Amino acid sequence: MKHVLESQQFDSKTIQKIFAIANALGRDRSLPFKGKIMATLFYEPSTRTRFSFESAMIKLGGNVISTENAGAFSSAAKGETLEDTIRVVSQYADVIVLRHYEKGVSERAAAVSSVPIINAGDGTGQHPTQALLDLYTIKKELGKTEGIRIAFVGDLKNGRTARSLAYLLGKYKHSQMFFISPAQLRIGEDIKAYLDHHAILYQELRSWDSVLGSIDVLYQTRIQKERFKTMREYNKYEGRYVIGLQEAKAMKKNAIIMHPLPRIDEISPEVDALPQAVYFKQAKYGLLVRMALLKFLLS
Ligand code: CP
Repeated sequence: MKHVLESQQFDSKTIQKIFAIANALGRDRSLPFKGKIMATLFYEPSTRTRFSFESAMIKLGGNVISTENAGAFSSAAKGETLEDTIRVVSQYADVIVLRHYEKGVSERAAAVSSVPIINAGDGTGQHPTQALLDLYTIKKELGKTEGIRIAFVGDLKNGRTARSLAYLLGKYKHSQMFFISPAQLRIGEDIKAYLDHHAILYQELRSWDSVLGSIDVLYQTRIQKERFKTMREYNKYEGRYVIGLQEAKAMKKNAIIMHPLPRIDEISPEVDALPQAVYFKQAKYGLLVRMALLKFLLS
């Protein structure tokens, strides 16, 4: 594997290897990437993905060069094409972590890069490393990856994390998925076609009432404000699905509530103290999984 572009490129054996590396990291004090450089090129804002990738590289002994607002602070501002930027940066770095507002940009970058490209989120496309850390969270918290009943909730049209996790879980036996969203923000046809192809059961719903008490995972997402043309349009959906204490109590005791974060108001803060709330742990697992992924890709 050279590039990380979409979550369906990972087979279960590769995922097992990456998770085994992540599990062993606590005992592993080696610095295999001394002298190696990671470039983080971010054209869209980020807290978790950029900091966890940078932290991962530094913990493994490597260095980081970074632009957190590449649209303004790289030569993109002068009109340089993404392809030319990648051609140049790939001569300075051993791996490029790329976040962009446009779907499909990672493939364009990979086509001209001499070093691995990691898709750190491409518009409404995918966020494959988030899917890996989400699956790792499920494995750690529920002890399994097969037979998971999961409800994806929120803006499933624009939310790339739900899309990538659905693709990844679609590879696991007996997964069952519920896509809960307003009609206008439904999950894409590409995901449904993929799940049909893999004989994975799924259902599209407008409300979580019928499934809240039987799911293993509630994967909550925010309404993606930045993808709407007007605030008026965004306001139609904002606040539609909010998990409060009442909703959390309706869930099974051993079910988990996940969220890729950032959270706006779709999970009430009082839920944070419940054992089912694993979203901050999920962000922490992100560091381990990204360290493991770098080791897998670059070692
Ligand atoms: N989950 C996630 O991608 O968060 P950031 O946008 O903060 O990187």
